[in-house]
Amino acid sequence: MKKPFSVLCLMLALVVLLLPATGYCYREKPDAVIEDSCAGGAKKILVTYDTKHGATAIVAKKIFDTLCDNASDNATIDLIFVENLDADTIQDYDAIIIGSPIYIGKWLRGINKLLKRNHASIAQIPSAFFVTCTYIGEDTPERQEYAKETYVGKNLKDYPDITPVDIGILGGQFTFNELYPIEFFLMKLAGFEEGDFIDDAKIETWAKGAAEQLL
Ligand SMILES: Cc1cc2nc3c(=O)[nH]c(=O)nc-3n(C[C@H](O)[C@H](O)[C@H](O)COP(=O)(O)O)c2cc1C
Repeated sequence: MKKPFSVLCLMLALVVLLLPATGYCYREKPDAVIEDSCAGGAKKILVTYDTKHGATAIVAKKIFDTLCDNASDNATIDLIFVENLDADTIQDYDAIIIGSPIYIGKWLRGINKLLKRNHASIAQIPSAFFVTCTYIGEDTPERQEYAKETYVGKNLKDYPDITPVDIGILGGQFTFNELYPIEFFLMKLAGFEEGDFIDDAKIETWAKGAAEQLL
């Protein structure tokens, strides 16, 4: 039976919409990647992160700045985008902070790859994890608990050798106009509200607490 023209048009529109679906999984290196280093004491801390739209780079930089302001007397701190990290150097660090944004409950591929290949060396040193997400835009103890379990606990379940000394559930950001069509579609469907939930004071408080436990 012949399909009516309108059905074909609808199917074509869906294909066009969903074609960049791989774009949802595919993490391109954004222009917003930030890397830095501050030299101080003998201990070395690595802050590494992945990002798709840049928010986690901003949060990671604020964590890095807080560490440099508060811990650089006894530590040297490197901020490295996970894609540029030479995993062989992990063993040179005394502590590591790892961060990912949350996409449908999951970490980005760069962080999953890092853990899959290097969990043994990461497990040798104290580690802290942070995620950026929008769920915590409304920051309540219940949401913190849920996010720790769902966004960090579940993503770490394959790595029982890694026990983070601290977990940061931090606000991220997104606007609809920067999303791929499939992301736009998914976020609208899920009823997410766009917004900037990056909170400098919360990041600073978390980073100071994490640094105390890591060093
Ligand atoms: C397709 C999509 C799925 C998302 N899924 C979640 C989610 O499950 N939970 C959540 O709290 N935030 C979710 N977010 C919000 C992102 O985690 C948040 O915007 C993050 O800061 C983006 O980081 P990035 O700019 O570094 O990629 C999602 C965003 C997009 C675009």
